[in-house]
Amino acid sequence: MLDLPQKYTILNTLILHHLKSLLSLLKYFVNYKRYLITGFLFIVLSNIFAIFIPPIVRVSIDGVLLKLKGEKLPKYIELLPAYFHDELGIAILSGGLILFAALLKGVCMYFMRMSVIVMSRYIEYDQKNDIFKHYQSLGQDFYAKNYTGDLMNRISDDVSKVRMFTGPAIMYSLNLTCMIFMVVSIMFYINSSITLYVLTPLPILAMLIYLVSDAINKRSDYIQKRLSKITSFVQETFSGIQVVKSYAAEDHFIRDFERLNQDYKNDNMSLVRVNGVFMPLVLALIGMSILITIYVGGNAVVKGQFSLGNIVEYIIYVNMLTWPVASLGYVTSLVQRGAASQRRIDEFMNIQSVKHIGKSTIKKLSNQIEFKDVWFRYDEKTPWVLKSVNFVIDAQKKIGIIGATGSGKSTISKLLMGIYKPSKGNIKIDGIPIQDYNRKSLSAIFGYVSQDIFLFSDTVRNNILIGANSQSDYNNLNAVIICSELENEINSFPNGIETVLGERGITLSGGQKQRMSIARALIRKPSVLLIDNGLSAVDTKTELKLKQNIKSWNTNNTTIFISHRISTVQDCDHIIFLDQGKIIKSGSHEYLKDSCAFYTMLYEKQSEFSDKT
Ligand SMILES: Nc1ncnc2c1ncn2[C@@H]1O[C@H](COP(=O)(O)OP(=O)(O)OP(=O)(O)O)[C@@H](O)[C@H]1O
Ligand SMILES: [Mg+2]
Repeated sequence: MLDLPQKYTILNTLILHHLKSLLSLLKYFVNYKRYLITGFLFIVLSNIFAIFIPPIVRVSIDGVLLKLKGEKLPKYIELLPAYFHDELGIAILSGGLILFAALLKGVCMYFMRMSVIVMSRYIEYDQKNDIFKHYQSLGQDFYAKNYTGDLMNRISDDVSKVRMFTGPAIMYSLNLTCMIFMVVSIMFYINSSITLYVLTPLPILAMLIYLVSDAINKRSDYIQKRLSKITSFVQETFSGIQVVKSYAAEDHFIRDFERLNQDYKNDNMSLVRVNGVFMPLVLALIGMSILITIYVGGNAVVKGQFSLGNIVEYIIYVNMLTWPVASLGYVTSLVQRGAASQRRIDEFMNIQSVKHIGKSTIKKLSNQIEFKDVWFRYDEKTPWVLKSVNFVIDAQKKIGIIGATGSGKSTISKLLMGIYKPSKGNIKIDGIPIQDYNRKSLSAIFGYVSQDIFLFSDTVRNNILIGANSQSDYNNLNAVIICSELENEINSFPNGIETVLGERGITLSGGQKQRMSIARALIRKPSVLLIDNGLSAVDTKTELKLKQNIKSWNTNNTTIFISHRISTVQDCDHIIFLDQGKIIKSGSHEYLKDSCAFYTMLYEKQSEFSDKT
C-alpha cells in the first residue's frame, strides 16, 4: 500500500506535472477563446441530440409490443394524430425522429470539429512562428551547444504533438465528459441498480485501454526515433556520396543500413503484436457490458421492473459510453505526449537570447577598433584560444591578420562582430565597449566573408541580396557582380542571375562560392569589410584583380584580410601575426620581414612554394 505523501507524489506527477507544462499554452487559448467556447457549445448540443435517440427507440419498441398485444397505448402516443397509432405509424414516426436527431447531431459535430480543430491549427501556426522567431534571436553559442536535428524536431514533431493536445485531445475530453455525464445521469434516473451492474466493466475497459495505448505510444515513439536515424543515415550517405564512391565503401554503408533497417523492422513487429491485442480487448469488454445488460435487464423484465424497450435503450447507452470510455486511455496518452513535447519546446523558449543589452548605435567606423587584453575560450573546460590579445585597427586602413591554422584568426573576427563575447578583457569600437551597441546596428557596419561559405538553395540574385542592408543597396547588384569578377560566369549560367543554386540547381566551384560570398558582403558597401580566407580558392591573377576591385569599391572603408598566405596581406598597412592565440608581432610587411625571424622564414617558404607551383 502507498502512504499518502507517495500517493500525492504520483498524482502530482500525473496531473499537476502535465498541467504545469501545458500552462504555457494558455496565452494561445486566450487568443482563440472564441473557437474554444463555440466548440464547447456544439459539443453540448451534439450530445443533447444524441441522447434523444435511445428513449425514442424505447418508446417505439414498447408501443409496437403493446399494440401487438392489443393493450392500451401510452398517453403520449394517443395524443398524436390517429395514423401514428398502429405499428407502421409508430415505426415511421420514431424512424423519422431518430433520423432527424442524428442529422442535427451530425451538423453539431461538424461545427464542433470546425471550431476546436481549426483552433488547434491556428495555435500550431502561431507556435511554429514563435519558435522560429525565437531561434533566430538566439546567439551562436546556442547553436554550438544544440544539435540541428533537435532544433528541427521541436519545431515540427513536438509542435505536432502539442497540436494533438490542443485539438483532438481537448475535443475528445470535453465530448466524453459531457456524454458520460449526460448518459450516466439518465441511466441512473431510469434504474440505478441495473445501471451499476451494467457499468462495472467500463472502468476496467478504460484502465486496460490506457495500458495498451501507453504501450503502443511508447513503441511508436521508439519507432519514430529509429526512423529518424534511418533518415539521417541516408541523408548523410547521399551528402557524402563522393567520399563513399571514391573509397569504394558502398558495402560498408549497405551493411550499416541493413542493421538500422533490421532494428526498425523488429520494433515495428512488436508494435503490430500490441496493436493486435487492442481491438479484441475493446470488443470483448463491450460484449461483456451488453451481456450483463441483457441478463440483468431480462431478469428485471421478468420481475416487471423493466420493459423490453428499456433493454434496447440500455444497450444503446452502453454502446454510446464504450467509445468515449475506450478513448479515455487514448486521450490521456495524447495529453501526456503533448505535455512532454511542450516541456521540450519550453526548454528552448526559456533560453534568453544573448542580445546586446546596449542601446548605442553606429553608422560607420569613424575612429578605431581596440582589443584590450582579450582572452577567449569557447567553453570553460577547453584551453584558451586567444591569450591576452592587444591591438588597434584604425579606420580606413587595410589590415592583415595572419597565422597558422588554429591560431585563432577566425575567432578574432567572430569576437569583433560581437558573435561571441570575450571571456576576459575589452573590445571597443569607436571608444564604446562592444556590448553597449545594439546588435542590429553593430552588424550593419560589417561585411563578412566567412571561411565556411554557405549558399542557400535559392537564386544567385537572392543569395547575394541577403547581404543588402537597405533598399538602396539593391541597386548595387549589377555593379557588385562585376566587382566580384562573377559577371562572365553568371552570364553563362542557364538562367543568368535567376539560376537556382545548391540541391535544386547548379553546383558552384570553390572559387565561385568565395566570390559569391564577397559579392554578398560588398553589396552593403560595408564600413568594415572582413574577409576570412575568402581569396584562398582563386588563382593569384584573380586574387590580384579582386583586391584592386575591392579597393576601388570600398574606398574610405576599413578592410581586414585574414589569411595563411603572406602574399594576401603583404600590401596591407598593418599586419597582425598570430601564433597559438598570441600576437607574436605586428606592423607593416617590411617591418615584420626585418624584425621577426619567424615571419621571414614563413615568407621565404611560401615564396619558394609559390615559385615552384
Ligand atoms: N565553435 C568552436 N567551439 C570550440 N572550439 C572552437 C570553435 N571554433 C574554433 N575552435 C577552436 O579554436 C581554435 C582557433 O580556431 P580558429 O577557427 O579561430 O582558427 P583559425 O586561425 O581561423 O584557423 P584556420 O586558419 O584553420 O581557419 C582552434 O583550436 C579550434 O579548435
Ligand atoms: Mg579560420
